[in-house]
Amino acid sequence: MPYQFPDHFLWGASTAAHQVEGNNTNCDSWVMENLKGTRYKEPSGIAVDHYRLYREDIERLAALGLNSYRFSIEWARIEPEEGRFDEAAMGHCRDVLRTCRNLNVTPVVTLHHFTSPQWLISAGGWESEDTPARFARYCAHVMSQLGDQIPYVCTINEANTPIGIDKVIKQFQQGGSASAQVGMNMDFQEQMRNYYAELSKAFGLPPQEVHTFLSPRSEEGLHIIFQSHVEARAAIRQVSPNTKIGLSMSLFDFQSVPGGEEQAAHELHEEFLQFLPYMEDDDFFALQNYSREIYGPEGLIPVPGDRERTQMGYEFYPEALENVIRCASKHLNKPIIVTENGVATDDDTHRVAFIDQALKGVAACITDGIPVKGYLHWSLLDNFEWQLGFSKRFGLIEVDHQTQKRTPKPSAYHLGKIARTNTINTV
Ligand code: BGC
Repeated sequence: MPYQFPDHFLWGASTAAHQVEGNNTNCDSWVMENLKGTRYKEPSGIAVDHYRLYREDIERLAALGLNSYRFSIEWARIEPEEGRFDEAAMGHCRDVLRTCRNLNVTPVVTLHHFTSPQWLISAGGWESEDTPARFARYCAHVMSQLGDQIPYVCTINEANTPIGIDKVIKQFQQGGSASAQVGMNMDFQEQMRNYYAELSKAFGLPPQEVHTFLSPRSEEGLHIIFQSHVEARAAIRQVSPNTKIGLSMSLFDFQSVPGGEEQAAHELHEEFLQFLPYMEDDDFFALQNYSREIYGPEGLIPVPGDRERTQMGYEFYPEALENVIRCASKHLNKPIIVTENGVATDDDTHRVAFIDQALKGVAACITDGIPVKGYLHWSLLDNFEWQLGFSKRFGLIEVDHQTQKRTPKPSAYHLGKIARTNTINTV
């Protein structure tokens, strides 16, 4: 049966600056990728050269039939040294926004997507109580000049990710190998001690004082992240009152089998519910989901052998999106934009199936009155998947990393057709 999505539904794809632009040399990740003993499989280098090729990439997105593009602005480019704002970098963002406008593509902009300026980390990073004000100052700078071109802004990408990182570290310390359970997959086995020595040299701090966004987080550090959102929101409202502001979170579909209910509820509280007060005044919720976690009496249940796994190691389970949207809307009465949802696979037929199943779930939620306003697939392009390098393929568009040649995959045309017709087949 055909299902028609509401008018003005945002159909698009997402990227993040560091994963696609290339030569993001002033950010913390660049340092970590290039350290001796690095945990990164390979450095980001020129990534997929999107800083240079953004125009044709956005043209390609629009030609597919998509009407929205989520991308991030890189703090380390805009403010390479504390208090010095780079005009050329602002000009670049202006060009990207102009390209979107000329193509009738609605931009959804993220102001922080995992990477931070190196100076911020040397100044105490995401455990410093000065960080919320510094972040708000950067956001105000960007939004006072570009806000009239930005209808939707996410302050921070996956503000709750440090919780997932802590979980992975604990599981690792207990001898488990749950590293595949979060987007930032980490291989902790590699030369930990050397790495931390190098890291501390690079930032001029003892290793335990190097606090990137993705380092293990104290309770106070968690508050600092969410407080950064609150202060940025207030600053943005002052300079760009028409922009809708949201916070992005990554949520698993937490499920349980008998005996695991309490732990599943605990995970939901830890990763989501405890942060609701910080989001009360937001205009929308930027929801991101990739899979599910099932809890039993002994804790997290490993993915059964007969279930398909994605290249990331977690379960192929597009049904999770519907469950997570329903759960989020129960606790947070706000419009929802799905700002990331996707699958790492070399078999594009699986991506097509994933999209269809995920969108059936979105349609069911909207039918039940949940205000889902858009679906932005991760990712527009095969890109730099953090520590895992370029091997994981999340893109709707294939990138040949030798030549930078782009080739849309069948899934890109598939999502484009859904977008153009604003309809999916639900049977
Ligand atoms: C992040 C992206 C990442 C994706 C896939 C999300 O958690 O926002 O940066 O590439 O997951 O792992």
